[in-house]
Amino acid sequence: MKKFILLTMFLIQATSLLAEVDWSRENSCKYNNFSNADLIDQLISDMSIEEKVGQVIQGDLDFITPADVKKFKIGSVLNGGNTAPNGDKYSSLSDWKKLSQEFYDASPTYKGIKIPVLWGTDAVHGHNNVIGATLFPHNIGLGATRNIELVQKIGEAIALEVLSTGVAWTFAPTIAVPQDDRWGRTYEGFSEDPILVSKLGKALILGLQGEGSTLLNEKHVLATAKHFMGDGGTTNGVDQGNTKISELGLRELHGYPYFDALDACAQTVMASFNSWNGEKLHGSKSLLTGVLKNDMQFDGFVVGDWNGHGQVEDCSNSKCAQSFNAGVDMFMVPENWKDLLRNTIRQVNSGEISELRLDEAVKNILVVKSRLGLLNGRKPHEFEGNFLGHPDHISLARQAVRESLVLLKNNDGVLPLMPNQHIGVIGDASNKISTQTGGWTITWQGRENSNSDFVNTRTIYESIKNYVEVNGGSVEFSSNGKFQNKPDVVIGVFGEEPYAEMLGDLKDVAFTATDPRYLPLLESISATNIPTISIFLSGRPLVVNEYLNASNAFVAAWLPGTAVEGISDVIFMKNNKINFDFQGKLSYSWPRSKDQSVLNFTDSIYDPLFPYGYGLTYASEDQINNIKIVKSKKLDLVNIFLGAASIPGKEFVVTDSGPEFVMQDNFLSANKKIKITRFDYQRQDDAKNIIFIKNKGMQAYGISAELPTDLSSMDSPYYEIVMRVNSLSDAKLYFSVGCGNNCMGSIELPVSKMAEWEAINVPLSCLKKDGLNESKVQIRGLFSSEEQINFDVNSIIIKDGAITGTKVSC
Ligand code: BGC
Ligand code: BGC
Repeated sequence: MKKFILLTMFLIQATSLLAEVDWSRENSCKYNNFSNADLIDQLISDMSIEEKVGQVIQGDLDFITPADVKKFKIGSVLNGGNTAPNGDKYSSLSDWKKLSQEFYDASPTYKGIKIPVLWGTDAVHGHNNVIGATLFPHNIGLGATRNIELVQKIGEAIALEVLSTGVAWTFAPTIAVPQDDRWGRTYEGFSEDPILVSKLGKALILGLQGEGSTLLNEKHVLATAKHFMGDGGTTNGVDQGNTKISELGLRELHGYPYFDALDACAQTVMASFNSWNGEKLHGSKSLLTGVLKNDMQFDGFVVGDWNGHGQVEDCSNSKCAQSFNAGVDMFMVPENWKDLLRNTIRQVNSGEISELRLDEAVKNILVVKSRLGLLNGRKPHEFEGNFLGHPDHISLARQAVRESLVLLKNNDGVLPLMPNQHIGVIGDASNKISTQTGGWTITWQGRENSNSDFVNTRTIYESIKNYVEVNGGSVEFSSNGKFQNKPDVVIGVFGEEPYAEMLGDLKDVAFTATDPRYLPLLESISATNIPTISIFLSGRPLVVNEYLNASNAFVAAWLPGTAVEGISDVIFMKNNKINFDFQGKLSYSWPRSKDQSVLNFTDSIYDPLFPYGYGLTYASEDQINNIKIVKSKKLDLVNIFLGAASIPGKEFVVTDSGPEFVMQDNFLSANKKIKITRFDYQRQDDAKNIIFIKNKGMQAYGISAELPTDLSSMDSPYYEIVMRVNSLSDAKLYFSVGCGNNCMGSIELPVSKMAEWEAINVPLSCLKKDGLNESKVQIRGLFSSEEQINFDVNSIIIKDGAITGTKVSC
């Protein structure tokens, strides 16, 4: 027995010895410009604690002004995904530059040396918060190109566009290695393969920041390697979740691309929202300081993510010594920056944060500012030239689109097409630029934009039409499959609606159509023997077996951005010859069934529909046989609203002047009687405040989908609504679910008992009793009242099973 225990102990020790992970790296970054080392030490020794803490604070434009920067000596600002100068997404280039100058002028001066504010932005597929910028394919598309040189050039182009607006720092690239494609940020990652991510991440950083003699010169900006670390590995692909993996696994998978990123001299690293084995990265001293700063010799500064520090145990958005002590040098604290500033000053004074640690963080920040030339007179707002939407950048984007297209099926060589034919086009997505551009486009979610918000940009339909007409053919769009002239071939465009971050998380990897007419239309056309070509726009590989079966050719086009002429370049011939061949290869494995959400080429059992690296060319003769359709099983959970409508839902209001979609974060209905504002409850932007202003008359707010959802496979479904009512009056508030014309079920909510946040559970059986047909749920949730009422909603989820907690009975 003893022997056995001893042996076991020996084995345990031996394994832990084996598991000692080597994170060491040698830093060989050389900075030609402006080292200012002595000056920086001098500045730090002259600055007061208050002034030093100011440097480590980054507020969001919606909540911080140049006057604040001046008064509180703040070091950094950002515009988040929904923020632009003057709160206006239509701000012009001169608005951006003007604000940049105002921040510059407001920046503190010590001993005659100005320390300019550093402004960061999410230029993640182009300078995407600015109207008129060139929008490149999202990283998933760049991954399919596998073209390192191209990606570096894209980095250079983005740098020039960012600089054009007086900004010199982008929070990009994302070098996540997504392992579960349910994750709403899958498209922000280049690949499931850490080696490819590493190569392309490095290329993008070199492009953004320059290298060698051009490193951080006037044509370049600071890059950010994000999100450190493990963001792509969370359980069930839940955004901001927990990544369970050994240290060696972390090093080999999620940590891997950081070595190349640091070799490219990335100046900032963003801490990640996720946890590693239960510990939030924002509070992990062993990873931020031990691994990143000590072992890997990172020589820039660590910026936190959007209130990420607030998620550390015992922290709030306005107070978190733990995060700072763990190694976050700059807090991204969009809204509560003033409180965090005060509390951090207090914590330095009390010793909870040592002055040494503060000095080190400030030094890291000043060193980066100095390398960028900011302490030597570089003024971001004085950048000359306007590169937004520059023709060279557009052709670069077009090349990227061409090379990112992956041909999944091309039976009987139906592609390439002769352009001098009559070509039919179907699918709403062919007329909708936001479906091409995805999330992180003008707004955070990228859904709130109309075609006219994009300058010099064609829809896919328009670009096809343009190409074909110039080359002697004709094009006709049909929404119902009826064409004036019988088409020789039909091109269909469909895909995912835009999303960003957690709002893109899925339950499984089945594609859920938002255009309910598309599949039946495609199937009916294909039944008439007209060749069909599908172009699929998506942020990840999804199960689309029926669509594949109904298409003779099928192209995965990812989220191509604005230069969709690149699609025509490839699918059409020119002068009877192939114009451009397909080059794209899958950088993620393609699933055959919806439960294959974790599907990576390193899996021991690997059974994808299309493997990693797959992609046909015009030389391939492969035929794809009919793919087996696995019918969907039981539903167990349907997300309706998580701070915003979940896909495929859309938010709308109804007033007595009719229905309107909710297109902005701060929404006011046309009659000014319904006001909807997004705010933070437990996480950022996870709740909405809804105010019905009128005292009499119809007022409603709800979520609808074009395609009905069938809930009949659920055993005992119920709606769980997490909400509270702010104005306690005798106003009545109803919750309803709709199922088409004159079909719905409603229930009155117990408003008087809802002053605190609570999960209110409404059994579907009650709604059914009132007339709901559960197999056709289309208005997925609706709050209505005829009186004034003010309430907050955090989530609406349809669950199955026994109700625990507050139940509304009928
Ligand atoms: C911001 C984004 C940010 C997100 C975080 C949005 O309001 O605009 O930049 O990433 O919140 O959830
Ligand atoms: C995202 C980051 C982004 C930041 C600022 C966060 O919610 O996770 O990727 O850089 O917001 O917009």
